[in-house]
Amino acid sequence: MAGKVGKKSAHVLFAMKQKVGALAEALKVLKDHDVNLLHIESRSSKRSADDYEFIVELERKEGDIDAALDSLREITHYMKVITRDHDNDDDTVPWFPSRIRDIDKFADHILSYGAELDADHPGFKDEEYRKRRKLFADIAYNYKYGQPIPRVEYTKEEIETWATVFSQLTKLYPTHACKEYNHIFPLMIENCGYRVDNIPQLEDVSNFLKTCTGFTLRPVAGLLTSRDFLAGLAFRVFHSTQYIRHSSMPLYTPEPDVCHELLGHAPLFADPSFARFSQEIGLASLGAPDEYIEKLATCYWFTIEFGLCKQDGFVKAYGAGLLSSFGELQYCLSDKPTLKPFDPYVTGSQPYPITEYQPIYFVSESFDDAQKKLREYALSIPRPFAVRYNPYTQTVYILDRKPQIDELARDIQSEMQLLLDAIRKIN
Ligand SMILES: [Fe+2]
Repeated sequence: MAGKVGKKSAHVLFAMKQKVGALAEALKVLKDHDVNLLHIESRSSKRSADDYEFIVELERKEGDIDAALDSLREITHYMKVITRDHDNDDDTVPWFPSRIRDIDKFADHILSYGAELDADHPGFKDEEYRKRRKLFADIAYNYKYGQPIPRVEYTKEEIETWATVFSQLTKLYPTHACKEYNHIFPLMIENCGYRVDNIPQLEDVSNFLKTCTGFTLRPVAGLLTSRDFLAGLAFRVFHSTQYIRHSSMPLYTPEPDVCHELLGHAPLFADPSFARFSQEIGLASLGAPDEYIEKLATCYWFTIEFGLCKQDGFVKAYGAGLLSSFGELQYCLSDKPTLKPFDPYVTGSQPYPITEYQPIYFVSESFDDAQKKLREYALSIPRPFAVRYNPYTQTVYILDRKPQIDELARDIQSEMQLLLDAIRKIN
C-alpha cells in the first residue's frame, strides 16, 4: 500500500530542455491532474547549458499533487520537491516509499550534487579530482533499484589514500571497536576484498551484507534530506558514497567518502542486532512529522554515526564517524568527552557540532537495548497508523485496516507455534 498523502501545496524545482512548448507541456500535466499553479519563476540552469529551470508553487484543487509530480518527473530532466505544506486534517501524512523500488523516486532529490565542492574543500583546485567526483556522482545519479552497482577502477593515488586510512585505523580496531565490529571485520577481508592495497567495490560489499542481514548499499550522488535518508533504512538500504577523499589530506574529509562508508558503516550492517536497530530508526521515520524527523536524525547521529556501547565493563565505539576517524576514535574513549546513557527522549534533542570532535557521546547498553528504547520512543511519534516491513515483498505495510492486522496476527501465531515446537524439541 502506498503512503498516504494529503498535501495542500508544494514548491518544486524542475529543469526542461530549452525548446518551444516545453513549459506548456509541463503546465498541461498540472492541468490534467487538476493541480493549480500559484506561482512560477524561471532561470537558466546551472546544471546544463541546454536546460531552463522553473520553480513553481502548486496547490491541490481537486487533484492529486503526488500523481502530478510523478508525471512531471517523467518529462523533466531534473526535478526536486523543495517544500510541501500540509493540511491540518488527521489523514495528512508526508509521503513515504512503500516499496523498495520507490526509493528511485527520491534518489535524485539531492541537496547538493557530489561533484560541487566548496572553496575550502581540499580538492577544490584539483581539476582531475573534480572530474573523478563528477564520474562518481553521475554513476549514483543514474543508478536504479535492482541494477548492480557499477564497478570502479580506482587510481593508484586513490588506492594509496585508502591504504593510509586503512593501515592507521586497523591498528585501533582491536582495542577501540565493539566486539561485533571485530567479529565481522575478518569476514569483510575474506568476502569483500578489504585489503590495504584494494578499495572494496560497493557491489561486493552490498552482496555480502545482503546474505547476512538483507542490508544493501545504494550509491548516492550527494546529500539527501534526513527524511529520505532515514526512509532508506526502513528497507535496509544504506545510501553510500563511492568516491574517496582528496589525497592531500588522507586522514581528513569534510564529507562522507568511501573510507567512511566501508570502514565506518558497512561491517556492522552485517550484524543482525545492529541491522534491526538501524531499520527501527528508518521505520519510525516513515510518515513522521518534520520535528520528529529531526529528532530521529539526531538519534541516528548519536548512535549509527557516533555511538558508543558498553561491553564487558568497558566502553567501545560502534559509530561510523568514530570507526573511520583515527583521531576521534582515540579521543572518544579518552577522559575528555562527556558520556551519557542513550535515551531517545534526551538524545533526540541534544545539539551537536558537525565540524569538530563531539563533546558528548551517548552510550548504549547493547544494540538490542537501543532498538527496544527506540521502538518505545517511536510510539510517541504522532502517526495515525503502525507500519510493518515485509521482507519477502520488500514492502512497508500500513497497519490501519483489519485484513492487514489479521495477517500480522496469523504470522505471529505461526511464528509462536514454530518457537514452541523448537523449545519442546530442544528440551
Ligand atoms: Fe555516515
